[in-house]
Amino acid sequence: KKIAVLISGNGSNLQALIDDQTQVPELYEIALVVSNRPDAFGLKRAQQAGIPSLCIDHTAYDSREAFDATVQNVLEQATIDFVVLAGFMRILTQAFTRNFLGKMVNIHPSLLPKYTGLHTHRRALEAGESEHGLSIHFVTPELDGGPVILQAKVAIEPDETEQSLQQKVYHQEHIAYPLVIRWLCRGEVSLADNHVIYQQRRL
Ligand code: GRF
Repeated sequence: KKIAVLISGNGSNLQALIDDQTQVPELYEIALVVSNRPDAFGLKRAQQAGIPSLCIDHTAYDSREAFDATVQNVLEQATIDFVVLAGFMRILTQAFTRNFLGKMVNIHPSLLPKYTGLHTHRRALEAGESEHGLSIHFVTPELDGGPVILQAKVAIEPDETEQSLQQKVYHQEHIAYPLVIRWLCRGEVSLADNHVIYQQRRL
């Protein structure tokens, strides 16, 4: 399968997928990396791995619709099977999410439905939570609201800081995201009727 990874920044989750695809080259290939920011470090990661990448700078577009239409066009030209959002910090239009329904996933650093949006680690700490984590979900028009495929939890210790918590969640993200992408590409997980369907692995 051909996947595209959409990023805005560091791209550590992209790196986890770059590393994973070399383990299962017959299963999936990162065919394209798209960033909406020219300075995203993830673009360098893609270049270093020899993966085609481009920046579609959202500041050059008058509207979300125009930006999304350009991204969609690029993805369609590249005949992408799945779109993987990995630290992509733009809200996508309903038209875009509808177009890739069941074919687009996102990773969010909280145990959804708790803490949608930004600064999730800080907010979880401030709320006195005893655990935090990450969610990987299908993308639907509802922001951070699509059906969850997988969650991973981490404990919040008494001396936890925002940074230490972020590191713990990152560590789990880098294991969990490749796992889900493998399921997706094998057809072991899919979206039907706004629900996640799990299919037993064919041996
Ligand atoms: C991750 O925490 C991810 O859950 C969130 O944005 C962050 C991206 O980090 N959506 P990176 O760019 O993959 O390092």
